Amino acid sequence: MFAILVLFVVSFADVTLQAEWTYSQQSAWPGVCNAGLGQSPINIMTQEAIVDKHHAHIRGPLIFRGYNDVPLYGSNNGHTVKWSGVADGPAPVLAGGPLRGNYTFLQFHFHWLSEHAIDGMKYPLEVHMVHIKTGLTLDEALARADGLAVIGVFFLMHRGYGSDRALEEIIPMMPYIVNSSQNNTEPRRIDITRLLSNEPQSYYTYHGSLTTPMCQEVVTWIVMDKPIYISPDQYALFTKVDVGGDYNYRSLQPRNNRVVYRSIASCASIMAPTLPGTLISLFSCLSTSLAAGVNKGVGAFLNIKRKIFGTPAKNCVKAK
Ligand SMILES: *[C@@H]1O[C@H](CO)[C@@H](O)[C@H](O)[C@H]1NC(C)=O
Ligand SMILES: *[C@@H]1O[C@H](CO)[C@@H](O)[C@H](O)[C@H]1NC(C)=O
Ligand SMILES: *[C@@H]1O[C@H](CO)[C@@H](O)[C@H](O)[C@H]1NC(C)=O
Ligand SMILES: [Zn+2]
Repeated sequence: MFAILVLFVVSFADVTLQAEWTYSQQSAWPGVCNAGLGQSPINIMTQEAIVDKHHAHIRGPLIFRGYNDVPLYGSNNGHTVKWSGVADGPAPVLAGGPLRGNYTFLQFHFHWLSEHAIDGMKYPLEVHMVHIKTGLTLDEALARADGLAVIGVFFLMHRGYGSDRALEEIIPMMPYIVNSSQNNTEPRRIDITRLLSNEPQSYYTYHGSLTTPMCQEVVTWIVMDKPIYISPDQYALFTKVDVGGDYNYRSLQPRNNRVVYRSIASCASIMAPTLPGTLISLFSCLSTSLAAGVNKGVGAFLNIKRKIFGTPAKNCVKAK
């Protein structure tokens, strides 16, 4: 059955307001951006993430409906490159996991470097798939704590067969949206499942905010712990995109008293061999040199193996 009943009906104005703001002056961001206690992104400490053994919070598997073949057009809003659903087109629907009810896909966009960090480590790129609680208008969604659900997936830089597969369908659209002054692209059919991790049931989840002004605290974050791949050539294209500065990631925000949950599937692999790859240590580069490194291209990255802390997570051991 290919009939997808849910259509894009909400307006595709930006989820964020198009006010003047820059990544280089984040302390000047308005509203709750600097006052809120539930902001994103955060550094996810794997040792502190709670496994929800009694399924009180994560009640079942995530369910992805209709992600395989979705007409999307590309655009550059001056802060990122973004792929959005066409009005009245088929819209994927996300449900399950920590979510109560259905969430309709709106758009995906990218941040380089990644916004979230895992145990203090950042990845070169993170994709955000933004979903709105089905049936709500954008204004309604931005006014309630469960209004949006965003999936974050990290990219590892990898040179080798298949490493360009995840982004293969959208990369040809990049030249048309490198400049923020360029028009939106024509829609093209995209298989969004290519941008999901190979183990989409393996993730962290917590409640947070949009990572751009107005930073509304209305987001159920689902951050997949298994990265996907980007080739160095593809990454070089991202670094050329006009985003009003050298980078487009928000600084890490305090977790405060929020709980980060992890899915049981993410525990199953905690003892698995670590993935070698290109990662950025937050502690070895200051953001300015980091940004400069991004602009100089892939050669500037440090090759660091991901560190899994020595002792296994207590919660995960119990969950087995
Ligand atoms: C979510 O969508 C599915 C499939 O269309 C539907 O069967 C289900 O009733 C919806 N759930 C809610 C809570 O609306
Ligand atoms: C837009 O792209 C052209 C090349 O196609 C480049 O020369 C120009 O500097 C770009 N403008 C901006 C604002 O990035
Ligand atoms: C953008 O679209 C407008 C209206 O269709 C057109 O006049 C203009 O030439 C386009 N600009 C570019 C850079 O393609
Ligand atoms: Zn984002």
